[in-house]
Amino acid sequence: MKAAARANTNIALIKYWGKRDEKLFLPMNSSLSITLDRFYTETSVEFREELKSDVFLLNNKPAGEAEANKVFRFLDNIRKLAGTKMYAVVISENMVPTAAGFASSASGFAALAAAGVKALNLNLNEKELSILARQGSGSACRSIYGGYVEWQKGERGDGMDSYANQLLTEKDLDICILSVLVESNQKKISSREGMKRTVETSPFYSGWLDTVEKDLEKAKEAIRNRDFQSLGETAEANALKMHATMLGAKPPVLYWQSGTMEIIHQVQSLRMSGIKVYFTIDAGPNVKVLCLPKDEQKVSDTLMKLPAVKQIITCHPGSGITYV
Ligand code: ADP
Ligand code: DP6
Repeated sequence: MKAAARANTNIALIKYWGKRDEKLFLPMNSSLSITLDRFYTETSVEFREELKSDVFLLNNKPAGEAEANKVFRFLDNIRKLAGTKMYAVVISENMVPTAAGFASSASGFAALAAAGVKALNLNLNEKELSILARQGSGSACRSIYGGYVEWQKGERGDGMDSYANQLLTEKDLDICILSVLVESNQKKISSREGMKRTVETSPFYSGWLDTVEKDLEKAKEAIRNRDFQSLGETAEANALKMHATMLGAKPPVLYWQSGTMEIIHQVQSLRMSGIKVYFTIDAGPNVKVLCLPKDEQKVSDTLMKLPAVKQIITCHPGSGITYV
């Protein structure tokens, strides 16, 4: 009873930041992302009758206790769906830095959900798979799909209306996402902890909730109209607003480093020179820079000259789950 799946990470243009239910991973707000073609996780899951406990290998070694427990709890959800008590061996490889603000949790849990469900021959549609993946890591529900994806927060207490949908396929809107690396070490505060602290202690969080659904509408309209400038402006403003909520938390959550600021300023000056280029930043110091494919070389060359920039990985919209 074995299967393997690959899931790409995604980068949110309208961020998911804050939960209304931590156990079910129900978000306070809806969000919108692009699935990327260059960063992914491949996971195999094998359920075996003779196992006495679950096993989780991440990047060729036994995962730490906290990482493993998240995976084992997630396997419980799959076991419940299938009505089985069998334990599993999970082997996962991240083609993305782990826990560094590159959304390894999104590709990680999307791949685990897909492989686990297939290993047990469960017949889940994409919506059901998205609901399942959400319960491993919220952003994972978006990585089930390729292209431009919206996660509707839903209203129900049981989370059955909180799942992702594809807005446009990866072929419908050409865009380039430069992943600009200033740091690949694991971050000290996980997204999970950062958002929890923000919801509980930041006086600015209410401002986020008051405006984020409007940002989402604007981004969706920009996508419908193929209006890259409006999409970029909306995404950049939304990312800055998310980080502003964290700065108000107690104690403050600050993911940026000096290199992060250097990139922000360089993007702004490229924009002053007439190039349509925007940035977004997740819970980490690295920056994703959005531009049109015709400008990707120039933008990449300019950013690479900054002393703080270690590497740039050029991404484009990628596909949803595939089975390997
Ligand atoms: P990131 O920015 O990489 O998503 P997070 O702190 O949000 O950082 O999530 C990282 C966590 O996601 C890891 O500590 C681990 O618990 C989980 N994770 C990462 N990769 C995988 C994987 N391939 N399979 C299962 N869980 C994973
Ligand atoms: C800043 O999905 O990693 O990347 O649901 O607790 O696992 P958990 O959090 P996670 O948070 C992602 C936060 C973000 C924004 C986003 O991807 O929408």
